[in-house]
Amino acid sequence: MDRIRIKGGRPLNGTIPISGAKNATLPLMIASLLTEDTLVLDNVPHLADVILLQRILNNHGVDVMLSGKRSGGAENSGQTVKISAANIVDTTAPYELVSKMRASFWVLAPLLARMGEARVSLPGGCAIGTRPVDLLIMAMERLGAQIDIEGGYVLARAPKGLRGGEIVFPKVTVGGTHVAVMAASLANGTTVIENAAREPEVKDVADCLVKMGAKISGAGTARIEVEGVSKLGPTRHSVLPDRIETGTYAMAVAMTGGDVLLEGARAELLQTALDVLERAGATVSATNAGVRVSRNGVGLQPVEVTTAPFPGFPTDLQAQLMALMTRAKGTSHITETIFENRFMHVQELARLGARIALDGQMATIEGVERLKGAPVMATDLRASVSLVIAALAAEGETIVNRVYHLDRGFERLEDKLGRCGAEIERISG
Ligand code: UD1
Repeated sequence: MDRIRIKGGRPLNGTIPISGAKNATLPLMIASLLTEDTLVLDNVPHLADVILLQRILNNHGVDVMLSGKRSGGAENSGQTVKISAANIVDTTAPYELVSKMRASFWVLAPLLARMGEARVSLPGGCAIGTRPVDLLIMAMERLGAQIDIEGGYVLARAPKGLRGGEIVFPKVTVGGTHVAVMAASLANGTTVIENAAREPEVKDVADCLVKMGAKISGAGTARIEVEGVSKLGPTRHSVLPDRIETGTYAMAVAMTGGDVLLEGARAELLQTALDVLERAGATVSATNAGVRVSRNGVGLQPVEVTTAPFPGFPTDLQAQLMALMTRAKGTSHITETIFENRFMHVQELARLGARIALDGQMATIEGVERLKGAPVMATDLRASVSLVIAALAAEGETIVNRVYHLDRGFERLEDKLGRCGAEIERISG
């Protein structure tokens, strides 16, 4: 199993290219199941989760062609993926695959909408809480699906096709909104989705679906209206930049000091997080080329932050912010409202010398003068990268074990940081 070795204490200076968003790429690839025509996606990040989803789609009979970088494309540009679901040969998504990546459960919606049936394994346990799928199932039922649970599988049927309906989410859910929009696109009649997730990735997927011929309005707001069509066609779409990767590197720069251009990043996708970084003492500016983050000399100020659905502070940046606050001059509070168990990084950060107390959903972080390197264990995607951020500022050497979590969501992390002056290397095996 690969590990990452980091020697802390170096500022970051230079340019970090921001990849296409994982959380848009996955639902976009899944949306390919809605059409028998080819969907071409550009700016797809090189990530383990993309490869895994490719395998899952292959299992349904979908052809996925990953091409390398485009000729003439920049060295770091994302890959182009051509996906053709002309012939769906199997409407079952098995446990062995769905349990490895929760988002693959979302295939339920396009399979049901296009084929009139789907059999998808329940995703099972997850390291960051129970993460149920009840609201996704509710959404499909509101569109006329008949749902049974058998042997750990959701059996969804709509032999005469789905019909438009009103879906009111009692809680904001990104996955719920994705599946509702996908399914409604091929349903008979009009669907209204209330309390929809407003995340930029929801809008990106909806934009792609509209190019495929779907009739969707209001994506990016809390009320989305979808007028079903009988068929969707081919299109080409470029994945929007990853706001979580952007925020992660922005926090790394705030942690180490230095000056980095996050190339291709779009500030409006993470304004709340960038505002928090400015309050903490970083300088942030949006330029034509991306987002520039620097911190020179000034100490880090403590902050009070509560995670919330977009446009609030993203839960996916909570662990990284906590790492940053371990070095603040004073006491910070971070409250997690989206996932009940997303504090697994706390014990590992403590191994580096952080002082963090947990009380229910709130973490109190008392800033310390120095962190010290140690062997630590990556537990989930965002927790792992928070350890990297802490290690970049820790004295001495940190070894981050189990970095396969990082590879699921961060493309060439050690390379991107290394080029900006970090002493970081991957140890294979
Ligand atoms: C997506 C993101 C993930 C991010 C999360 C919240 C992808 C691939 N993943 O995950 O990175 O952390 O949004 O921004 O885009 N819930 C229910 N019942 C359901 C569904 C969700 O109770 O049927 C709850 C969840 O337990 C959680 C909250 O709703 O407390 C939000 O979850 P949701 O937005 O659905 O997260 P994902 O779409 O799984």
